[in-house]
Amino acid sequence: MTFATKPLHPDFGVAIDPGDTSGEWNEETALELKNAVEQSGVALLRNQDFDGDKLGKLAELMGEIWSPQSVTSTYGRIAGSKTFRLTNLDPEGKILPVTSKIISFNKANELWHTDATYVRPGSSVSLLYSIVVPPEAGETEFCDTRLAYDRLSDQDKTLAEGLIANHTLLQSRALSGFDDWTEDERSAFTRIARPLVHVHKPTGRKALCLASHIATFEGWNYLATQDFVERLTYLATQSGSVYKHRWQAGDLLLWDNRCTMHRARPYDPSYARDMCSVRLVDENDVV
Ligand SMILES: [Fe+2]
Repeated sequence: MTFATKPLHPDFGVAIDPGDTSGEWNEETALELKNAVEQSGVALLRNQDFDGDKLGKLAELMGEIWSPQSVTSTYGRIAGSKTFRLTNLDPEGKILPVTSKIISFNKANELWHTDATYVRPGSSVSLLYSIVVPPEAGETEFCDTRLAYDRLSDQDKTLAEGLIANHTLLQSRALSGFDDWTEDERSAFTRIARPLVHVHKPTGRKALCLASHIATFEGWNYLATQDFVERLTYLATQSGSVYKHRWQAGDLLLWDNRCTMHRARPYDPSYARDMCSVRLVDENDVV
């Protein structure tokens, strides 16, 4: 079957009407959905009815679930589950204070980033489902890093090609002011080297692998690296290049981490925001 689709943004992203497949996913329809994400970068399905288990089952139809045995996976991870909970609610359903560790940790999601570039294997596709959303703000913004590469000047393309970036979660958390690591956590992080320009395998197009997790480029000092990362991020995310997703409860949003970058936007922390997420492994992410 073929889904009915509408563009989310003139340049990328697609809204999908799954018709009567809703809640009855099989391998064929799940792979069609994955293909739509890979081609378009971002896909939205509204008015869905998922919970963590159902979201995990849909993801398993698309591929292997990303589940690294690293300390980072303990933040927001539900015991015994491969899904994450991105929430400001405690187990009793009360809103957590903004000073709590998990809220402070997740503050870095408001920086432009790509999921899971700080571990290997990384993630090909992320799925995020909204259970409860604030009445306003708290959007998620996306840009397409294939287009970002295409739009670089020849000089910047030449500069970017061949650069190897070292990614670490410590960098994005440091930028957002989070430093509440245990010594075991801090020492568990190794820097993951990734080319800044890579080929997005499903479409064969070049894309930037850009994220606030980048600490340094090999052979570059910290300040020069951060200056170039900041400039590339600025160029990639100019207003006409960004899709801003305004959440409704029941939205399922999927994105391809190999060809998009995203960030969360702030919201009034006195409102509840409760989401669940699962990621697919990038099976081609081997050294
Ligand atoms: Fe993210």
